[in-house]
Amino acid sequence: MRAQGTGVGEERCSCAGVVSFVFAATKAMMRSILLSAMRTRERILLCALVLFACRKEPAGAIRLGEIASMTGTGAFFGLQTSRGAQLAVQEINAAGGIHGRLVQFILLDDQSKPEEAATAATRLISSEHVVAILGADASTRSLFVAPKAQAARVPMMTPTSTNPKVTQVGDYVFRACFIDSFQGYAMARFARQHLKLKRAAILRDVRNDYSVGLADSFIQSFTRLGGEIAAEASYSEGDVDFKAQLTRFKTVAPEGIFIPGYYGDVGLIARQVRELGFSQVALFGTDGWDSERLYEIGGEALEGSTFSTHYSTDDPSPRVQEFVAKYQKAYAGQLPDTGVPQAYDAAGMLFDAMKRAKDLSGPSLRDALAQTRNYPGVTGDITLDEKRNPIKPAIVLRLGKGGRREFVAKILPESAPGR
Ligand code: PHE
Repeated sequence: MRAQGTGVGEERCSCAGVVSFVFAATKAMMRSILLSAMRTRERILLCALVLFACRKEPAGAIRLGEIASMTGTGAFFGLQTSRGAQLAVQEINAAGGIHGRLVQFILLDDQSKPEEAATAATRLISSEHVVAILGADASTRSLFVAPKAQAARVPMMTPTSTNPKVTQVGDYVFRACFIDSFQGYAMARFARQHLKLKRAAILRDVRNDYSVGLADSFIQSFTRLGGEIAAEASYSEGDVDFKAQLTRFKTVAPEGIFIPGYYGDVGLIARQVRELGFSQVALFGTDGWDSERLYEIGGEALEGSTFSTHYSTDDPSPRVQEFVAKYQKAYAGQLPDTGVPQAYDAAGMLFDAMKRAKDLSGPSLRDALAQTRNYPGVTGDITLDEKRNPIKPAIVLRLGKGGRREFVAKILPESAPGR
């Protein structure tokens, strides 16, 4: 682990300059990545730029790495979490850093591939000597990062990976979000009590730990609450034709289809559901739906659908409203999708622990993180349980006309069995 220096005084100016250069460059690059439909050249450039800037950093800065899906099928998750983390880094540095040391942020793209996430983890640990890793965003990718962080005793904090197995890897692995045994329960309860569904079909992404875990926890809770599973089918991320599965569903006439998948696939699935004339069936899902891209792909086919997530931009609490306003100012009026405040909170929890830790070695930082109690996050007050998972409510949103998200319900963790 890199030794602690002071990192103040003259060094601070150059350090802040480099940090803001990294931010400006990253921001511009992310915009161009989006516009150019994720071309490889930009991707390499982004990483190179960030790493180049980092090399020039004075020794006193605290190095924080993030692994995010900036390109590939999950690129909108990385967009969200990197923006949230950067906002938090900007703020802590503007406030003078942590005990006088500025935070240097190093962002690596896992290209939405698990093996790339593992490579990025090795690079952050062995070459960049980060004190902690923020990420990855998707559970399957985090499951490739966690063993590396655990073995190297570098604390890892995923902002958004909800699969229970992630933090089970070991005591250096933390998260800022609820877990899927609760999320699956929350949607089962919502389906039974609010949507009044008795018979549901399930379409799961078989190669995605997140989707598989959620389908299982949903089935368990839904049947316990008196529901019936009418049919089950699977797909793999990136598939474009779901007609065979959906035609089969149509023959058993479920009242709803539960799709615990990611926005890109879900958008296409919704369109094909409606194309098959399956108009009355309720579509519902989970936080992997939470991206502005979802409605861009699925359009009207999604109107009336519901999904669970971590917060609502309509929440009147000042913490949420101030955050939304700040984000809109920075990003031309866009609304922050759930990964933004989650990564902001995840970074904030890391900084809070860094302030309390006796030093920034892995074991000390891990101990301080494990002590997180009532951290005042945008997504709620966060207390980590003994398994390093926060206990937080789930929010259910409905997609209204034009893709507008409407708050529908809040499912409290207290209501879940076994939590
Ligand atoms: N929760 C999802 C998973 O664990 C990932 C996710 C990332 C969801 C960002 C929403 C936003 O795989």
